Amino acid sequence: MKKSQGISYAKIILIGEHAVVYQQPAIALPIRSLTVTATLTPRTDGRQQIASIFYQGSLTDAAQTPFAGIATLIRRLLTFFEAPAQGFDLAISSMLPPERGMGSSAATAVAIIRAVYQAFDASLPHDRLLNWANVSERIIHGNPSGLDAATASATAPQWFVRGQAPTPIDFPTTGSLVIADTGVPGQTKTAVASVAAKLTQDPARYQPLIEAIGQATSQAALALAQDDLPLLGRQLMISQNALRQLGVSSPALDKLVAAALSAGALGAKLTGSGQGGCMIALAKAPAEAGAIRRALEAAGATTTWQYDLVESEDPS
Ligand code: MEV
Repeated sequence: MKKSQGISYAKIILIGEHAVVYQQPAIALPIRSLTVTATLTPRTDGRQQIASIFYQGSLTDAAQTPFAGIATLIRRLLTFFEAPAQGFDLAISSMLPPERGMGSSAATAVAIIRAVYQAFDASLPHDRLLNWANVSERIIHGNPSGLDAATASATAPQWFVRGQAPTPIDFPTTGSLVIADTGVPGQTKTAVASVAAKLTQDPARYQPLIEAIGQATSQAALALAQDDLPLLGRQLMISQNALRQLGVSSPALDKLVAAALSAGALGAKLTGSGQGGCMIALAKAPAEAGAIRRALEAAGATTTWQYDLVESEDPS
């Protein structure tokens, strides 16, 4: 094993969350200025130590903590490389707020998998990376679609359908997204399970909402291809309306959505699993994003970011 480093990104789901669990498409983008970095340094004393904001301590003790899913991933990776007892220091530094719909757990897994493969000088095909990320995502989230890991490991916006290879999608537009954090944590596992429960209890009522999100996502792809921002904004609203009826919005998210629309956004919706976390608002042009940001901050957003679609990276 040699010293190594793996990097991954925050993700923002433009449209399609929750429905993507049920085979509908989704569009998501990596935020390349918000990174997770995993640095792996071999130790000769056999100790396996982790230092991160989520967990500090030995790999063994992590079993009883929220870091257990990632710890299982690390153990399986070491076993795969026939080095289960290899000592190491693993330092994880993350710019992502955890439990805010930005894919913190998937990004952490992707950074660690990349670091471990590099440490053992092994090449890492993309489908294998995504399979490995699923190990911890299944433990942490129960029934992950794979969208978070696919986006955390990508460098361009992605069109994603569960079980298929993700494909890059162009964002040829002049608009901007404003991202705003409610400051309230949201648990992906709980939100996904609550949608599953609704679908089981009353499929006739809830299944059409899943399909409506899928159709809005296809329309959103068309809107992006045609540079039709008002059409895109309408699809975001259709999706937010369906997500609210599925029970994954929240009063704080609804308040920010309303504030963004009042400030001139073409559309706004929660992003990620909801029930807290972040929302996004679509501005016609970068120059109009400032007013939306100010309105969101006045309505209680704890942090806002601006992401100009034309650049497809680097929010400020
Ligand atoms: C979570 O970031 C996105 C969800 O669609 C769950 C998933 O795709 O696994 C809510």
